[in-house]
Amino acid sequence: MTGLNPWLGRLFIVLGLITIDHASPALARTLVVGAAVVAVFIFLYQGSYLPRFIMDVLDRLTNKASLEQAYAQRSGKLVTIDADQLADRIIARVIGQNDAVHSIAMQLRRRFAARRADKPIAVFCLAGAPGTGKTHFAKVLADELYGGKGHLHFFDMSQFGQPHAAASLFGQARGYVGSQTYGALTAALRDVPDSIVLLDEFEKAHPEVHKRFLTAWNDGFITEVSDGARVATSDAIFILTTNAASRRIGEIAEQNQTAEDRGRLAKASLLDAQFAPEVLSRIDEVFAFRPLKGLDIARVVALEIEAIAQQFGLRIAGGGIDPKILLDSIETLSNRLQGGVRDLTRALERQVTDKLIDARAAGAVEVRLIDRGSGVTVEVTRSNATAEPLQPQSAEVLNN
Ligand SMILES: Nc1ncnc2c1ncn2[C@@H]1O[C@H](COP(=O)(O)OP(=O)(O)OP(=O)(O)O)[C@@H](O)[C@H]1O
Ligand SMILES: [Mg+2]
Repeated sequence: MTGLNPWLGRLFIVLGLITIDHASPALARTLVVGAAVVAVFIFLYQGSYLPRFIMDVLDRLTNKASLEQAYAQRSGKLVTIDADQLADRIIARVIGQNDAVHSIAMQLRRRFAARRADKPIAVFCLAGAPGTGKTHFAKVLADELYGGKGHLHFFDMSQFGQPHAAASLFGQARGYVGSQTYGALTAALRDVPDSIVLLDEFEKAHPEVHKRFLTAWNDGFITEVSDGARVATSDAIFILTTNAASRRIGEIAEQNQTAEDRGRLAKASLLDAQFAPEVLSRIDEVFAFRPLKGLDIARVVALEIEAIAQQFGLRIAGGGIDPKILLDSIETLSNRLQGGVRDLTRALERQVTDKLIDARAAGAVEVRLIDRGSGVTVEVTRSNATAEPLQPQSAEVLNN
């Protein structure tokens, strides 16, 4: 059916006109009527107005256009990437890590171009202090490379602190509890092989668990223990994140050296930390994330505030975050070694959550945040009821 296209209708019309010119008006009428019938049929078919028994089941039961697009994306493997474009898109969302982002994009470009059947596309480690954007980067990369969440397999490796914990990743031997289902990693890569496997806080997993990844990285497959099936890792990008040696890594990130030298130094400092040499030698590259400083802290906090507001279906008005809030954040974070931006945004979230809920309940669509000294208040600048921006003096203030 999809072979039918408007050209068929046009052909009928052209033939009809030629025939009018040359003799048989009856035949011309038949052809013109035929063209009309075909056009109506195509219109009905494409608009899915056909009776149920003629409709494509996908038209009837799902969003066929988006399924077709996603399927085309999935079957057409990513072959080359534009490193500069990828880096620019990521830098717009990951603040203050431009050097690391550019190096990663460049490395990925090379690795996508020269794929190996017996190795993952890449095994990268992102090292640095807490709250510098390592996990956030991996999520953004998955989004920018593949679009959609299905291509990010996230594992919190601090959950695998015991040697036997690997069973939940790679499957359980027959006869043991859990041997009926696949391990979480084998199942994820079986279902979506072209993806990012994010092994978050890798150093917190047991060394035995670390070693189980060596086949995945050396040979391009993992074995599901329950049924012995081989699951390919050759379309995956493994990203490990770590806080190990974060002070030293922070210094390295600030050094004025080539990306290669920084990577080499960062790798050496992980060797002194919790990484076994055989594991470290299989990691392709280590990238040092730098501690956030100055206005970059303000940028991250502003983005976080925007994200918190969005959770409640609210927009931040243009210029709607009081600079004092961001200034305080810079000061707090610059004086603090632990906790990072995450603790800071959590504290802010605690202060404003109830006020944002109240604002939303009152029909607000846009707000601004003001620091009143005693705490942050939320002012409604636009609401559904008015659909017009409120004047500053009449803006509704929600103090509690
Ligand atoms: N450089 C950054 N750019 C944008 N957002 C950031 C950045 N750093 C942190 N954030 C924000 O702060 C939150 C915490 O960051 P993230 O989880 O990426 O830190 P991390 O480096 O993985 O820390 P940890 O080592 O403790 O896991 C994220 O939700 C993210 O939105
Ligand atoms: Mg993290």
